[in-house]
Amino acid sequence: MSQLFTPVRLGRLELPNRAVMAPMTRTRASNTGLQTPLAATYYAQRAGAGLIVTEAIAVSAQGHGYPATPGLWNEAQQQSWVPVFDAVHRAGGRIAAQIFHTGRSGHSSVFGEIVAPSAIPIRTGQARDANFQFVPFETPRELTTAEIPGIARDFASAARRAIDAGADAVELHAANSYLIDEFLRSGTNHRTDAYGKDRTRFLREVVEAVAAEIGADRTGVRFSPLGPWNDMSDENPLDTFSQAARAIRGIAYMHLVEAGGAEALTPALGEAFGGPVIVNGGYDLARSDAALQSGAAAVAYGVSYLANPDLLERFRRNAPLNTPDPATFYGGDERGYTDYPLLDLSRAA
Ligand SMILES: Cc1cc2nc3c(=O)[nH]c(=O)nc-3n(C[C@H](O)[C@H](O)[C@H](O)COP(=O)(O)O)c2cc1C
Repeated sequence: MSQLFTPVRLGRLELPNRAVMAPMTRTRASNTGLQTPLAATYYAQRAGAGLIVTEAIAVSAQGHGYPATPGLWNEAQQQSWVPVFDAVHRAGGRIAAQIFHTGRSGHSSVFGEIVAPSAIPIRTGQARDANFQFVPFETPRELTTAEIPGIARDFASAARRAIDAGADAVELHAANSYLIDEFLRSGTNHRTDAYGKDRTRFLREVVEAVAAEIGADRTGVRFSPLGPWNDMSDENPLDTFSQAARAIRGIAYMHLVEAGGAEALTPALGEAFGGPVIVNGGYDLARSDAALQSGAAAVAYGVSYLANPDLLERFRRNAPLNTPDPATFYGGDERGYTDYPLLDLSRAA
């Protein structure tokens, strides 16, 4: 039997299996950051995962630069998550809330102010404005040294709201070009203050603030060491992310997006972190087995969980997977969200 179906412990979390639903933004929330009731159905359908990680949730109005994405900076937003976490628990699952600040990757028409470690705009691709139209990225305002600790406090307060709403854990989104990632990588952090001399400093302050608020043993962090989206780059990713992995030692887990060939860095980063590692990026069952045998604690699946609520059951039976429909990934209604079919057990082998 595959190790995927065996239990594992990540900090305080006891997972009955090692399959994780990767965080996926579905842009079906309100522009004021309220989660929809339909999200409870969507996530509960996927509660067979050892752990679900939610779509990214903004920690503050300033960090809410994507249209139709949820937030966790006020009471109404917190309450909008209660039915979701409840539904997952009633279905027997566990769920971590992924929290983020969109940094320079958002658009100011949504809510947020476009800020970043340095005033360097994204030059390729386009932002989405509040009406879902593609528009040029804006030049971010460089954050002052004095205001940065307040953003770490925003992460801690959103983490508290997530736990109070019923989440089992919180994942800090330090991947895919958002604010923490922008501080980490040399292409986006040209600062000369303490946050530039040590590019892991902001990450460390966020982790410390969140861990003090909810406990290190239910705090996870996600990195994408070679993720290229939104013009991200670093002059020495192995060195940068080894330092970042060391900076978060002692938390529940480290989650690595292996895009861009980053699986080559995973063993070194796992060693630097010294705790459970979740790997992600194009995994099928065979590759998952290999990763678990090489020491990964769990494997996260994005698109395949999106399109297969019963993904683990399909893996168990070696059954075919549904085809994902990219046209309904972002925005819209229940189509492509809660209507992917379950395996027809009367026909499965
Ligand atoms: C529709 C969609 C939305 C995504 N949103 C997020 C997100 O909110 N946070 C995040 O960390 N990654 C996000 N990702 C990346 C996925 O978590 C995952 O890293 C990626 O899909 C690669 O894994 P896969 O090959 O198993 O799909 C998103 C991916 C997709 C397809």
